[in-house]
Amino acid sequence: MANDSLTITDNRTGKTYELPLKHGNIKAMDLRQIKADEKDFGVMSYDPAFLNTAACESRITFIDGDQGILRYRGYPIEQLAEKATYLESAYLLLYGSLPDKDQLATFTARIAKHTFIHENMKKFMEGFRYDAHPMSMLVSSIAAMSTFYPDARNVDDPEVRELMAIRLIAKMPTIAAYAYRHTNGLPFVYPDNDLSYTANFMNMLWKMAEPKFQANPVLARALDILFILHADHEQNCSTSTMRVVGSSQADPFLAMAGAAASLSGPLHGGANEEVLRMIDEIGTVDHIPDFIASVKQGERKLMGFGHRVYKNYDPRAKVIKETADSVFAVTGRNPKVDIAREIEKIALSDEYFVKRRLYPNVDFYSGIIYEAMGFRPEMFTVLFAIPRTAGWLSHWEEQCKDGDTKISRPRQVYLGPDQRDI
Ligand code: ACO
Repeated sequence: MANDSLTITDNRTGKTYELPLKHGNIKAMDLRQIKADEKDFGVMSYDPAFLNTAACESRITFIDGDQGILRYRGYPIEQLAEKATYLESAYLLLYGSLPDKDQLATFTARIAKHTFIHENMKKFMEGFRYDAHPMSMLVSSIAAMSTFYPDARNVDDPEVRELMAIRLIAKMPTIAAYAYRHTNGLPFVYPDNDLSYTANFMNMLWKMAEPKFQANPVLARALDILFILHADHEQNCSTSTMRVVGSSQADPFLAMAGAAASLSGPLHGGANEEVLRMIDEIGTVDHIPDFIASVKQGERKLMGFGHRVYKNYDPRAKVIKETADSVFAVTGRNPKVDIAREIEKIALSDEYFVKRRLYPNVDFYSGIIYEAMGFRPEMFTVLFAIPRTAGWLSHWEEQCKDGDTKISRPRQVYLGPDQRDI
């Protein structure tokens, strides 16, 4: 009997099966041979929400949720946040190694070349109602871009895939800024390709009558750090959506619209918006105990707390907390941070949260920084989607190259009626 195997005895039949282990896991399809009798379909694993199912092999991002470790292609997130830029991190995710000087210059120039969007996209976005949610505008606009790039359908062509990835990373800030300007009734501002990725984004958001927008370098860097932290997070809900939609060979704009739609929900990327609403509702520090009591009674959730994978402090939340001070030095202190820190203090010493290993996640502090920078909560998830583009596309690329890729198609356990006649 091989050491790297699992022996299963089917107590219905008394038969024993030896299933090989690869990287410590069994193949779910190996269970299918286990049958009660000849007619039996075979054993499946029942796993709603994929709590214990690996759907792919990946070499992009590593998370150890118990220890609070996050690495992109082996590099700890803390080091990337300190020493790299968002575009370097995006390159790392896409190509597997950090760029040298020439590679970075070429990559940056390619991104800059594609920041403009078709004028008809502008008209398309002008059609949204003034009070449309920016995330809904973003999702629809990503999908609409598919109509401008019919060649994106050639997903088997690596050059096409690379060009579409460049296009998407380049155009996301433009679309996001247009959504923001539309909400505020302001004219769209064209990209300024002399500026860095985040400074140009700030230009498209906030430029008014001045001939050239000057981004505050501290805020541009803070935004860049936030973008690095949000760039990837392995097989989360939105990345899994990207992979599922992409597995049908839909083009990357449509697959990414699906991924962004997943991100929009309050249990995923939409949580940052909900955190701010929650803090506003709490209002003052003396209301926190009552609020925590209602959470413990199951009446509501403490938004920005808890994570499917992290059962320890989310390493991104730590970096964000540190970044907050540099932002407040420019913008003035957002008093909501005091409420957030008090919530964290109370929650981390309360048995309910300790027992369930609920810690602040990436969304707990990010909104407070974004608000200090001048964003309204509706924009927060959009600010998450822009950098996550690099992660989504890296996973899509990995999947396109993976010989094991097949169209995603889970099974079900059917519990409905047997055949019945009308
Ligand atoms: N507030 C209060 N209780 C919570 C919270 C929370 N934020 N999160 C989990 N719990 C409780 C659950 O009620 C459950 O308690 P029980 O065992 O008594 O039933 C227990 O902790 C386990 O939680 P699950 O829901 O089983 O954990 P799951 O892994 O399915 O959910 C999730 C993870 C969705 C992130 C959850 O923690 C949550 O809803 N958090 C708030 C929303 C949020 O901040 N989302 C952002 C996540 S980060 C991201 O996506 C970028």
